[in-house]
Amino acid sequence: MDVLEAIKGRRSIRAFRSQRVPAEIVEKLIDAARWAPSAGNIQPWEFIIVRKPEIKRRLAEAALDQTFIEEAPVIIVVCANEDHSSLGYGIRGKTLYCIQDTAAAVQNIHLAAYSVGLGTCWVGAFREEEVRKTFKIPHGVRPVAIIPVGYPAESPSPRDRRHMSKIVHYETF
Ligand SMILES: Cc1cc2nc3c(=O)[nH]c(=O)nc-3n(C[C@H](O)[C@H](O)[C@H](O)COP(=O)(O)O)c2cc1C
Repeated sequence: MDVLEAIKGRRSIRAFRSQRVPAEIVEKLIDAARWAPSAGNIQPWEFIIVRKPEIKRRLAEAALDQTFIEEAPVIIVVCANEDHSSLGYGIRGKTLYCIQDTAAAVQNIHLAAYSVGLGTCWVGAFREEEVRKTFKIPHGVRPVAIIPVGYPAESPSPRDRRHMSKIVHYETF
């Protein structure tokens, strides 16, 4: 699929069919994620794959009861390894690059998923401590996104985007 077609066609999906997502496809998504750019090529991302219903339930609760999350056959929890980034780039690595790098990996997952007919949603509203406890995530690693993945059971219309003229600045802000 053409990359612009994927960028423009992708939507956040919040309803999923129960059809299983094969492990090889999930691997493909993680492979796409690890090809994202990262500061100094540090690659500070970590991925937790979740299929167990009881863990999905805990994630949905931690995500302020966004119950659609647990409907997805598989969930990818993306974490940012702050320690790795701060070793390379100090406080800027920990607070900025680490999050930017991981966000790029998350977007790759969304686009790769769309290109193979899957739906995803970037879920960022969650109680971090609860997610941390659920997976025993070590200190220095921060869960940054929960991505439910499954075959879409809805096809939402595109959400509005800010007009080009409102966001582009020529020569000066
Ligand atoms: C950082 C971030 C956090 C988000 N958190 C949530 C969330 O907690 N729950 C949710 O349903 N959607 C969440 N979204 C998805 C946005 O609502 C969605 O991307 C936006 O409305 C544009 O719609 P589209 O993705 O279909 O283009 C989040 C998106 C981003 C980038």
